[in-house]
Amino acid sequence: MEAKMTNVKIFDTTLRDGEQSPGVSLNAKEKVTIARQLEKLGVDIIEAGFAVSSPGDFDAVKAIAESVENVTVASLARAVEKDIFQAAEALRNAKHPRIHVFLATSPVHMQHKLKKTPQEVLAASVKAVEYAKQFTDDIEFSAEDAFRSEMPFLKEVVEAVIDAGATTVNLPDTVGYATPWEYGEFIREIKEGVPNIDKALISVHCHNDLGMAVANSLAAVMNGAQQVEVTVNGIGERAGNAALEELVMALYTRRAFLQKDTNIVKSEIARTSRLISKLTGMALQTNKAVVGKNAFLHESGIHQDGVLKERSTYEIMNPEMIGINDSNLYLGKHSGRHAFQVHLQGLGYELEGEALDTAFNGFKKLCDQKKEILDEDLIALVDDQMLSDNEVYKFDHIQVFSGTNWNATATVGVIVNNEMKEVAAIAQGPVDACYAAIDQIVGSDFALEDYQISSVTPGQDALADVVVRVNYKGKTFTGRGNSTNTIEASAKAYLNAINKALTMSK
Ligand code: KIV
Ligand code: ZN
Repeated sequence: MEAKMTNVKIFDTTLRDGEQSPGVSLNAKEKVTIARQLEKLGVDIIEAGFAVSSPGDFDAVKAIAESVENVTVASLARAVEKDIFQAAEALRNAKHPRIHVFLATSPVHMQHKLKKTPQEVLAASVKAVEYAKQFTDDIEFSAEDAFRSEMPFLKEVVEAVIDAGATTVNLPDTVGYATPWEYGEFIREIKEGVPNIDKALISVHCHNDLGMAVANSLAAVMNGAQQVEVTVNGIGERAGNAALEELVMALYTRRAFLQKDTNIVKSEIARTSRLISKLTGMALQTNKAVVGKNAFLHESGIHQDGVLKERSTYEIMNPEMIGINDSNLYLGKHSGRHAFQVHLQGLGYELEGEALDTAFNGFKKLCDQKKEILDEDLIALVDDQMLSDNEVYKFDHIQVFSGTNWNATATVGVIVNNEMKEVAAIAQGPVDACYAAIDQIVGSDFALEDYQISSVTPGQDALADVVVRVNYKGKTFTGRGNSTNTIEASAKAYLNAINKALTMSK
């Protein structure tokens, strides 16, 4: 049985299609942090962005290309020279660069969006691949909206781009319209009907509009696809893309039947999912497959009894395998710096010197505020620290008075250019007053669009985790902050979004 097992390549597009999720904007530092984690996770290809789309995207693709080694880095490009040139420039220092060229092939896209005839699309596709080939050998061509394209024309395009040098051809279900039966058949037809198909890998890219992105990707793999394009937590345009963790665990859990596996380091799945959720501000559905909070919880007595007697009665996957460990009380206020460092290593964080000192001081402070320090608290503390530099406005302190039948008053201290600014404001509620005070310091260009609060761990003294979305000049930026004081967490989240808006709009 094992002899037939083959590997499917995982092309991660969290940083490109995933970042196209409404309201998500990541800065270059966050993107590099994610790319490094994706490398640890063992993805084969990271789509780092769309270099031509903005100077920020170009810089992020370039920074990622220079920060990872053991993974291919791709940049998206329309089938035009300007885009391809920018992609090549951004990837110049990548160890393994890939240029990903796309052009739509469906009648509806060609006629209404591109206003091109099929012959023009065919010629432009070939020209683009030939041009990209000057910069690297590794060229992926995507026939956008492939699933709704006419099969004879699609075959013609696929054959022509392979002849022109494409080494991967991607056949997306761009609008999430396919069913598994049709999509599997569609891939088989390409596999069997394009004469030079063995010179390129077949890739699939499924959107989740009808909730079938993972099922469609699996059907494609069973019919000849060798690469699958996914995002962590399934984020992406509209209803998102096929979720990496679901696809990978489906292939692994059902490997005896499917005979496919991936290079993914499964124990990094939970950590990667948490990081993406944190940095994008996109909370996970509680019952999300594989990585949701409830994915391994058993509520009914019959199920609990079964699991206690024999885990496999109700569990088809092992939570430890994907890196979910029970949160244990582990260190307290008497723990030393070394024990703290070693424990962080166990959680995947290598901190030394000044960074370790700052984290350790934060931990000691937290010990005074909270009875039990759990792994989730430490992760929140260290993640926040790792991502909070380049701050234009740095939170310093807050004091709030509020109560029933009273307006709230907030006094907020923020450090700007090494100088403390302290202002007070009155409003209906404490968060409102706090944000009104911050607005006096930062100006009135920032509009709060969304505010979410949750707790990092159970218990009355838990860290509050606040995620906000702030609109600045028509663009949305996500901010996050945590503290055992909910108003302080709210102030930090608001300032975090404002700092991101200012640094990303430069
Ligand atoms: O959904 C899609 O078709 C895409 C392409 C650009 C690959 O994202
Ligand atoms: Zn897409």
